[in-house]
Amino acid sequence: MSGDTIQQEIRSLLAEKNGVLLVHNYQRGEIQDLADIAGDSLALSMAAAKTDADLIVFCGVHFMAESAAILSPDKTVILPRMDAGCPMADMITAEQLREVKAAHPGVPIVTYVNSSAEVKAESDICCTSSNAISVTRSVGSDTVYLAPDQNLAQWVARHTGQEVLYWNGYCPTHHRVRAEQVRQVMARHPGAPFIAHPECRPEVLDLADAVASTSGIIAYCQSVAADTVIVGTETGMFHQLRKNSPGKTFVAASEDMICPNMKLTSLDDVLEALQTAESGANVVRVPDDVRARAVAALEKMLAAGRD
Ligand code: 13P
Ligand code: SF4
Repeated sequence: MSGDTIQQEIRSLLAEKNGVLLVHNYQRGEIQDLADIAGDSLALSMAAAKTDADLIVFCGVHFMAESAAILSPDKTVILPRMDAGCPMADMITAEQLREVKAAHPGVPIVTYVNSSAEVKAESDICCTSSNAISVTRSVGSDTVYLAPDQNLAQWVARHTGQEVLYWNGYCPTHHRVRAEQVRQVMARHPGAPFIAHPECRPEVLDLADAVASTSGIIAYCQSVAADTVIVGTETGMFHQLRKNSPGKTFVAASEDMICPNMKLTSLDDVLEALQTAESGANVVRVPDDVRARAVAALEKMLAAGRD
């Protein structure tokens, strides 16, 4: 089947099944182009919570589809590649978070949305990269515990002045970038601003002119008065960046910034998942007892809006 035919077939199946296609900013360009909504984790969670569709086809990684299933339990949520996970989300289990809580009684648990439903169920509130500061402030405690991302936690601590204890998780795609690499890229592009995702190491964020979520990076690149921008996040972003700011040049802070899980999903996978939606093979389900304990943390996150 040609590319165009696949795209038409996907759109017609979405119409037939009253489906909505939610696509993360790191997905392959051809999938972003087909999206009803392309965005960051917060935008996609908000869209999943309020959609009128019966079927949510989530092109992203597992925790994102799981959040949609928690927020919209009456919808069918489909993940075209069930093997698209997030290594950072797998770095802490519910049992480990229970041990953290036992070791720090009374300390509010702020959990990055890049986590399992079971971990969210043990949490007071969730956050994404676009509202981690507001969410952490909102708990109104001098000390908080943030899991699982150590880099996000340290970045939040700098901005809120709270004591932020944290789990030692990280995103392999962002954590592997070193400050020295970024300095070399900056030296090759003098004067170009550098914008980074808060999953990067603190010493990398120290070099940044701005730090933002994936959608925040797109907005920054549109508004900044510069022809060239150095971008410190997953390179799938370059598709949206070039579309939104056609006259500008985007330079990767490191060519290694590729999330293999985000790249798994193809148009063929989306089509097949839609064709077989009724089989249940790609349906993301969250057990009722876990959902009941996780939903409040996610709803509080949505209520916090953006930083
Ligand atoms: P955003 O919420 O900024 O889109 O980030 C999600 C993610 O997985 C970053 O690695
Ligand atoms: Fe997870 Fe990192 Fe991939 Fe984002 S880029 S989905 S945090 S592994």
